[in-house]
Parts: sequence; C-alpha cells; structure tokens
Amino acid sequence: MTERIHVGVAWPYANGPLHLGHIAGAYLPADIFARYNRVIGNEVLMVSGSDQHGAPITIRAEKEHTTPDVVAQKYHEQFLECWKRLGISFDLFTTTGTANHAAVTQDIFTTLLNKGYLYRDWVLQAFCPTCGRFLPDRYVQGVCPNCGSVNARGDECEACGKPLDPAELGSPRCAICGGTPRFEKSEHYFLRLSAFQKQLVEWVGGMTHWRQNVMGATRRFLDEGLHDRAITRDIDWGIPIPVEGFEKKRIYVWFEACIGYLSATKEWAHLQGDDTLWERYWKQDAKIYNFIGKDNIFFHTLSWPATLMGYGGLNLPYDVPANEFLNIQGQKLSTSRNWAVWVHEYLDKYDPDPLRYFLAAAMPETQDSDFSWEKFVHRNNDELVATYGNLAHRMLTFSHRHFDGCVPDPGDLDEKSQALIGEAEKTLRSVGDSLQRCSFKEGIRGAMALAQMANRYVDEQAPWKTIKTSRQDAARSVYTILCVLSALSTMLYPYLPFSSEKLRAGLGFTGGPGAHGWTMERPAAGQALGEPRHLFVKLDEAVIEEETARLGH
Ligand code: MF3
Ligand code: ZN
Repeated sequence: MTERIHVGVAWPYANGPLHLGHIAGAYLPADIFARYNRVIGNEVLMVSGSDQHGAPITIRAEKEHTTPDVVAQKYHEQFLECWKRLGISFDLFTTTGTANHAAVTQDIFTTLLNKGYLYRDWVLQAFCPTCGRFLPDRYVQGVCPNCGSVNARGDECEACGKPLDPAELGSPRCAICGGTPRFEKSEHYFLRLSAFQKQLVEWVGGMTHWRQNVMGATRRFLDEGLHDRAITRDIDWGIPIPVEGFEKKRIYVWFEACIGYLSATKEWAHLQGDDTLWERYWKQDAKIYNFIGKDNIFFHTLSWPATLMGYGGLNLPYDVPANEFLNIQGQKLSTSRNWAVWVHEYLDKYDPDPLRYFLAAAMPETQDSDFSWEKFVHRNNDELVATYGNLAHRMLTFSHRHFDGCVPDPGDLDEKSQALIGEAEKTLRSVGDSLQRCSFKEGIRGAMALAQMANRYVDEQAPWKTIKTSRQDAARSVYTILCVLSALSTMLYPYLPFSSEKLRAGLGFTGGPGAHGWTMERPAAGQALGEPRHLFVKLDEAVIEEETARLGH
C-alpha cells in the first residue's frame, strides 16, 4: 500500500554558509529517507526553506553593514547551490520571506487569536541604554535559572537546553556591549501553551515510535508543565502582526518558521497548478516527518503541534527524528572560531558521495559523533574505494575483457552463488527496514557488510584463475557478483545517489536506480554492460594534514 510521506526539514538560518553539522543533523537523513520512500513508490514531498528572519540574520547584516534581505538572499542562493551539488533532493526549498508564508502565518495567528489561544500581556523587554535599542532574546546573556550556567542566552540555555525568556536570566548583560540592559514594559501576544498541556501529553503518549532522545526531551518539558510564551517581539525584521496598534512589532521567528512546513506545501501546490494539493499532506492520510537537530526538539514536538491543535483540522507531525550533534575532531563545532567544515568548500574539491557516506556511517543518531579528516580519508579509501568501488570496477572490466562487455550466462547457479544472491536479497530487505525506521547508520552498515561478503566470495572463486580452466565457473561467479552489485546500487542509492547512478549505467540497466522499486533487478545474460568507470577516487593521505591545518583559522 502506498503511503503519503511529508518530509519537512529544519529551515536553516540564512546568515551563513552550511557546514557538516547541518548536513549530518538534518539534510542528509531527510534526503536518504525521501529517496528511499520515492523508490518504494510512496508519494513523497520534501520541503524546507531559508529561515530569513530572527536575530541571526539582523546580526549578520549589522556586521556586514548591509540589510537583512541582502544577507538572506545571498545565503539562500548558496543553499540552493549546495543542495544541487550534494544531491539533497528537495521538491521545494523556499524562504520565509514570501508573501505566501506571511499570509499563511497571519492566518494562523488570526485564527488562534479568534479562538482564544492568543492573549495580550506585558513583558519586560531588555533595552540596552548604551546601544539605544531593544535587544533580541539571544542578545541578552546571563545566568540560567534552570542549571546555573553563566552563559545562558535569552532565548535558550545551551548548557541544559531549556528555552528561556530574557527576563528570567540572572545578572543579565548585553551581548553586544557587555553593558547592563534595563527591562522596559512592552505589550505582546502570548500563545496559551498551558492550555494544550493535557492534549499534548496524550498525543505524545501515543508516539511510541519516537527516538528515545526525542521522547526524553519532550517528556522533560511536559513534566515541568508548559508555560505560555510570547510570540511577538520588538523588532522590525519579520512578519507583521495582523492587529492594529502592533505595527512596530513582529511575529517571533520560532512561531513563524515552523509554519513554513505548511506554507511551503501550499506554495508547492500552487506551483503544481492545483491550489488544493497541499491538503493531501495536511488534511488527508499522510505521515509528516520533521528532520531536525536536537536543539529544535521543543519547537517541533510541543509548540508547533500546539499551534496545529489550536488551529484545528490539520495533521500533526508523525515523527521527529532529531539528531544529536556532529563534532569536529573531538571539539564542538564553532562557526565563529571556524572550527567547521564548510559544505561549499568541501564540494569544490571532493565528490558528494564520500561525504554522504561518511556522515551516514557516522550519523549522530543516538549520541554526538565525530568528523575528522583522518577518519574521512580512511573511510573513503578503505571502505568506499577498496570494498565497494574496486569490486564493481574489477567485475565490470573483467566482463569487458573476457565476456565481450556483456553479462555472462551463468548456467546453473551452485550453492555458494545462490547463498550470496539470497544474502543480497535479504540485505536489501533489512536495509529497507532500517530506512523505514530512520536507522540510517544501521542501514549503511548492513549494505557494506554485504559488499565485504561479496569480496570474500570473489577472492575465493577467483574468476581470473578459473577463466583459464572453466569459462563456465568464471561466468557463474561474475554473474553472481553483478547481481550483488545490482542490489547494492539499489540499497545504497538513497545514501549514495551519484555513484549508484554510475554503477547502474555500468551494469547496463536503462532505468535509473530505483526504477524497478526496492528489489534486486537481475542483469539478464547477454545484457550489454556500460563503460566501467571508477565509482570513487582514492584520496591522498596528504589531504589529511592539509585540511586539518585549515581548521580553526
Ligand atoms: N532556523 C532554525 C535553526 O537553524 C531552525 C528552524 S526550523 C523551523 O536552528 F522548523 F522552525 F523552521
Ligand atoms: Zn549594549
């Protein structure tokens, strides 16, 4: 039975280039999942966009002496370029700057207001007398009321993950000048989150398929009890509030950004020429997946679902597979210290699949994981090149040399060949099962284990020897490996789309990877093979030192 799968990926702030943490955290797992679901015949829609509001953008604009929209536009274009080069297959990657997004946001705001889920109240808003301005939440720093960390930001404490209001901080200071802000009264709209406590507890209770880290974090918030939160701010960059008297204020970026999942779907429908198509994902039977980093859990499992419950009639997220963080050589990634690997710089020098491979094999699914250039080069050389790429290249060149560039006729398969082909089919099923459950690491491990098994089989069968004594024996083992390669090209396609495409052309299949669904397409005896091309290139060890030296400078 085909299903409808909505894949919504966290909206990256358009205030700087993408780094490996973004990719490992959300975009790669989302893409792997979307590709898999398309192959098995599900109706998939994968959307996201640039998060162009919020303090991160205005801060950057101030630093660069330009305007927020110039900053947002610049990085939005870079993002699009990265998705293309890295093979992140969005159906739509838009921005929160569209008129459509503003309209959808304001409709939700107004509806919640009319239903009594929003109310006005006064807040104390930080105003820095030295800087002469209201400070965005994350510009206020101080002591976390929850864990005591002295460097908590006004929007959230990074040490304990608790979402905060700036006024809750002890010894507050201005992040720009270090001065002491004063708090001035300002009227804002609050989302009545507390009204959804019971409904959310019930709903979360049914989400038994959620990852443990996601469930744990969500439960902690619920156990504490949800508090109403201000969803407007004293800023001028953002979506206007559709209420008279509030012209100078804007809707808070977090309230509005999650609405992007819905507004992007509407924009996509419009681009399809049918403005009702969005309903398939939001009103009809569909599963909504949100791929995010762990710092976004609260917004996706609680405040966005509450917004949807309040609005009414729309589907809630089905799963929120949040990843932990990717560290770089044992240290927390830091963009300000340039302790990061930038995606566009990587892609200027290396191929996309080896990065996808590394990040999938070392995905921070249940705990933080680590990238190092040393591990990257070794995994590329020892696993991708030695185990997978060479196997394919050896078998294809061998077939060109000895079997006229065609799939050899295996005759009757012996027990060992049958066993290996059976193993390939079994692995294909189990990798599919892993992907279904968003266990991406487990899936790629299974696929590589099959490639290793295939290598052992070839070494044992040694067709380069048997070709001199029994052409039939050589044909049988080569054919068997071509079958395994066919299976690998399918099961690895969601992970490694570029090399899978190459391999399938090498095997002489005309349809792209997945054209035949999640099954092992057997090459037909006599089928003309394509040009044997290397799937991956071996990287020089010198890369390790060269690239490592660039970190942190
Ligand atoms: N821009 C946020 C970040 O980079 C993520 C927003 S996700 C959304 O952390 F769903 F709210 F859009
Ligand atoms: Zn200041």
